Amino acid sequence: MSVKIPRGTFDILPEDSYKWTFLKKSFEQISRNFNYREITTPIFENAGLFERSVGDSSDIIEKEMYKFQDKKGRIFALRPEGTAPIVRSYVENNLNMAANSSKLYYIGPMFRYDRPQKGRYRQFYQYGIENIGSDDPYIDAEVILLGKMFLEKLGLNNFELQINSIGCANCSKDYDRALQEYFLPHKQELCSDCRKRLEINPKRLLDCKVLSCKEIAKNAPSNLDFLDSDCRDHFDGVQKYLKMMDVSFVINPKIVRGLDYYTKTAFEFIENSLGAQNTLIGGGRYDGLVQQLGGKNISGIGFAGGFERLLLTMENEKLSFGEQNNPKIFMVARGEEAKISGINLLSKFRRENITSETAFEKSSMKAQMKAANRCNARFCLIIGEEEMRNKTVVFKNMESGNQEIVSVEAIFERVSKI
Ligand code: HAM
Repeated sequence: MSVKIPRGTFDILPEDSYKWTFLKKSFEQISRNFNYREITTPIFENAGLFERSVGDSSDIIEKEMYKFQDKKGRIFALRPEGTAPIVRSYVENNLNMAANSSKLYYIGPMFRYDRPQKGRYRQFYQYGIENIGSDDPYIDAEVILLGKMFLEKLGLNNFELQINSIGCANCSKDYDRALQEYFLPHKQELCSDCRKRLEINPKRLLDCKVLSCKEIAKNAPSNLDFLDSDCRDHFDGVQKYLKMMDVSFVINPKIVRGLDYYTKTAFEFIENSLGAQNTLIGGGRYDGLVQQLGGKNISGIGFAGGFERLLLTMENEKLSFGEQNNPKIFMVARGEEAKISGINLLSKFRRENITSETAFEKSSMKAQMKAANRCNARFCLIIGEEEMRNKTVVFKNMESGNQEIVSVEAIFERVSKI
């Protein structure tokens, strides 16, 4: 019996891998343009890190975390998200003491035992940034701007930025009470998850995907009416800076985000063509998280998105992922002597970062030319008996079919020029 790939995971096959490289490089580039530096944390962490930060009553902790015990009985988890590990690392490595290390970006696989569907997987690749150390609303706007510029850089323009402020613990007291009062009369109509949420974390009722719960939530009180003056000023500030940066947005008071560490600003970039899994990027402020994980009372904000949803959208919209790295040169040679000459040239090209290929294991010229066509080489260099005698090479453009004779001495120069 053949062994199959685990459900909810996928292979990135060679013909698609250039698309992933393109997305990674584009995100790295825009992050560096804003002076973010890369951080890489382990793929597994102590499970307690997520339980304490993401929140016991969140879907991620309740249902989706891949938890396991090691040989010494320690409980670890495959990371379901990147923010908690980065804050852990920030505290553990005293990154607040190092110049320039509070602006961090990351790319890597995350794991959630989700119900797999288009745009939602059990292993998925997140890109994200974390900006730790400031509670200035300018930073919120700049973080959002980076997300927007990234999407635009890829050629996407069918998305909408939605923002909200979910306030702080102080605002939540009254708001949670108002939500409980609103939802209580509808308790029997709510799904079983929401009935539990009503007791533990009523804000999460606003996030439920079940249609009947969504319908009830439509007229729920808005958190914006419960913000204290500090949170209101902050939210006004974020909007002011977004406008100054020419970033258009809509306010959606229903954005609560599924993770417990959020405070104040929460935002999502929604792609209109994606269907159910339409959040390209989600993020927000987490002003209590650093302290909660053992650090000082330092604010933070960031976002993350999944490459899979970007890829789907870009494919739907027929956007470019740049060029595949097809060989520029394909070397064809007849006879042992010609092969030696070909091998020398190939090594020279490869040392100079010119992608070159050959099929010397095939003896006939016809078979070698067929191989050159199959791998989409741009040019073919052909060395037959006559070329060996004359110390020349046939230089053939595979697209136009044009060919010229170039001396062996001059061929490297000729190829490098293209
Ligand atoms: P999140 O909303 O859980 O936030 O995930 C962020 C993004 O990751 C989603 O908007 C989506 O694009 C992608 N994503 C999440 N789950 C899956 C999945 N199962 N399959 C495919 N893509 C998925 C966080 O993870 C926060 N750490 C974001 C953040 C950073 N907040 C502040 N800093």
